[in-house]
Amino acid sequence: MPTFAAAEQKIALVMVGLPARGKSYIARKLARYLRWRGQETRVFNVGMYRREIVGSQVSHDFFDPDNPDGRRERMRLADVALRDMLKWLTQSGQIAIYDATNSTRERRHWIRDTCKTQNVSVVFIETVCDDPQVIDRNLRDTKLHSPDYAGIAPEEALVDFKQRIAHYEKAYETVADDEGMCVKLIDEGKKVAVHHIDGAIMSRVVYFLMNLRTKRRPIWLTRHGESEFNVEDRIGGDSDLSARGHDFARALAGFMQTRRDIDPITVWTSRLRRTIQTASYLPERTRAFRSLDEIDAGECDGMTYSEVRKQFPDQFAQRSRDKLNYRYPRGESYNDVIQRLDPIIIEIERHEHPILIVSHHGVLRALYAYLMDTPPQDCPHLPMPLHTVLELMPNAYGCSERRFPLSS
Ligand code: F6P
Repeated sequence: MPTFAAAEQKIALVMVGLPARGKSYIARKLARYLRWRGQETRVFNVGMYRREIVGSQVSHDFFDPDNPDGRRERMRLADVALRDMLKWLTQSGQIAIYDATNSTRERRHWIRDTCKTQNVSVVFIETVCDDPQVIDRNLRDTKLHSPDYAGIAPEEALVDFKQRIAHYEKAYETVADDEGMCVKLIDEGKKVAVHHIDGAIMSRVVYFLMNLRTKRRPIWLTRHGESEFNVEDRIGGDSDLSARGHDFARALAGFMQTRRDIDPITVWTSRLRRTIQTASYLPERTRAFRSLDEIDAGECDGMTYSEVRKQFPDQFAQRSRDKLNYRYPRGESYNDVIQRLDPIIIEIERHEHPILIVSHHGVLRALYAYLMDTPPQDCPHLPMPLHTVLELMPNAYGCSERRFPLSS
């Protein structure tokens, strides 16, 4: 499987920052991206350990650095999570994300020293934000729905959480240059400071983080309308839409009309005729990307599946055994598609408007796998029917999904 880190390189990405600065949001997005790129990645959230071990509803005093019992208990929980993380990293894991405030120098020192004993490199990812509007939005979007405040009136929960933040502020120390590798995301990534970062994997991580925006907007995915090749069950090619395909293209324009609001919609297609024709009934200007072209079936391009089975029985069997890694002769594998879609993922993350992507069976499976955090092995088998629009709406920590079959 093509990955961008040496198999033995183990990394702990350690989140740093006051509460409600978007650490968990970033940790989960990053984990999803790295998993999609083929890295064994897992988030270790110390808050979840606390909820499991001491229960969810603890008062803000628990977080007061001047409360010795609370301090001892928080250190114990951090230690349990760190040991679990190192155990996982020394077994199957490649990249762990240690999600907690890690807001003092002393705490980070301990994390770094403990990781060093297991040959794990530590990179701090600090989120710095003093904009009260952003903090308030984060509080309302995430903390009020946390199990910590289940059954508690929102205004009461807000007061308690703000006191929790105040406790952390008393002890908070920003990451200093002598603490090692660090990425600082200031004011939701408007400014990014990078210290001592090197290597392919960390360069990708920094690039991803620099492009990460928090604006929520829908993403619609649809395959092109039925093509002449679809009618004959042929793979690949660059055929035109069938009459049914054009009906779908018109139905898509009608559907998008019901979705239009004040935000302009961006429409992307592949460079192949069937997606461009599908988008041609929409009023928006479209942009065609080669990276959205269908998986390249190489020497099998233009054949039916039964022709492939007859003419290339070994290839057919190999593909059935491992569809993710199988590469068509002179063509691509799903893993190749995933790698070439990386710039599209970055574009999706940095784009602030709703996006409609008109593309193909294999490519949409790979995009969907990213957006819905589906394990890579499942990606080549995801159902992606023709004439169906998928509406994906990012929420605090993932995406919700609705499917609209637009049958003609
Ligand atoms: O059959 C339509 C199609 O888009 C082909 O062009 C492409 O090769 C195929 O779907 C991808 O699906 P699978 O990977 O399941 O063969």
